[in-house]
Amino acid sequence: LVKANSERGRLSFTTDLGEGVDGAEAVFIAVGTPTRAEDGHADLTYVFAAVRELAKVLKGPTVVVTKSTVPVGTGDQIAALLEKEGAPAGMSVASNPEFLREGAAIRDFKIPDRIVVGAEDDKAREVLREIYRPLFLNQAPILMTGRRTSELIKYAANAFLAMKISFINEMANLCEAVDADVHDVARGIGLDNRIGPKFLHPGPGYGGSCFPKDTLALLHTAADVGVEQRIVKTVVEVNDDRKNSMADRVAKALGGSVQGKRIAILGLAFKQNTDDMRDAPSIPLVNSLLKQGAIISAYDPVATDNARGLMEGAEFAKDAYAAAKDADALVVVTEWDEFRGLDLERFAQAMSGKLIVDLRNVYNRADAEEAGFSYIGLGRGKIDR
Ligand code: UGA
Repeated sequence: LVKANSERGRLSFTTDLGEGVDGAEAVFIAVGTPTRAEDGHADLTYVFAAVRELAKVLKGPTVVVTKSTVPVGTGDQIAALLEKEGAPAGMSVASNPEFLREGAAIRDFKIPDRIVVGAEDDKAREVLREIYRPLFLNQAPILMTGRRTSELIKYAANAFLAMKISFINEMANLCEAVDADVHDVARGIGLDNRIGPKFLHPGPGYGGSCFPKDTLALLHTAADVGVEQRIVKTVVEVNDDRKNSMADRVAKALGGSVQGKRIAILGLAFKQNTDDMRDAPSIPLVNSLLKQGAIISAYDPVATDNARGLMEGAEFAKDAYAAAKDADALVVVTEWDEFRGLDLERFAQAMSGKLIVDLRNVYNRADAEEAGFSYIGLGRGKIDR
């Protein structure tokens, strides 16, 4: 996309801000808003720095749009800052949150479930409607709302999705105790349109640069205005516990101790189709296993380089079979498609132990047992405890 559109003269790049925004009807701010280390709030340093620079170079009325995930009220602060820093009169500030997933961003952009625009004036609404017209023609619903509401929609969406994941993870724990199958539970409830089938896949806890950061930021926004958010607070706690309990699950499967055991880790990225290690569940898992005396041999199709500095003492293998060589157990941490088709018999031959702990349920028990493994998945009956 970048190549084709650059060649056709529709896309260009510059490090000169004035040149970049010259004649623009809309300017999107899409900088990062990481968690502020001191207090867990969203760090708006980069947003405000961009606004200050913009104020100096904009020549006429422009729609300034925040694509960055920003707490409620940031649009108001941006409007005030533009004025303070001497931007031309007649500026509009709008919110246009993004709902793209890493690894599926282009598809999500082209076929969005909805487009949300938060604006306080007609000009901003018109310009954004025009920008999104091609998607709108494809019947993507566009929701026009107030700026603050739009800012909150982003956080509410991510918190709700995080809640679905924590819900199914707790349900998986219950399934293990009562001998039920969590995938059938997910399907059984997900077929109800009011619930929906997505984001009900159990795992080692959600990670990435969005859910952990945005749930925390939402809690801070709520605390600032004195409004309790007990559900989101619990979601965060459930997820932290989930991530931190995965090492014990592996230890238990290995008879209580991992001391001196060689453990193969399949997948390090926080999810498939990305090399992103931010808040990946693999980090607490591997570090805890290393601390308990395990020898770790890990493989990820693309995230290894990013993982190196985050798990000191781990070995990194060039492929899944090399990681499994002489291992006592194989632990699946990321649901890469390439893991689904691996040859379990070959693993069985390469390994010294015959145990698979599958934290993404990519294999099924019958296949694993046929290859001679003991198999422990998530929420698939009593035996998974
Ligand atoms: C998430 C949202 O899905 C996007 O809509 C949003 O735009 C984005 O955050 C953002 O705020 O920028 P992303 O972080 O790329 O996207 O990844 P997800 O696909 O949502 O997965 C997040 C985590 O939840 C991963 O660790 C994944 O493994 C886990 N997950 C997801 C589950 O454990 N179970 C599920 O059923 C779904």
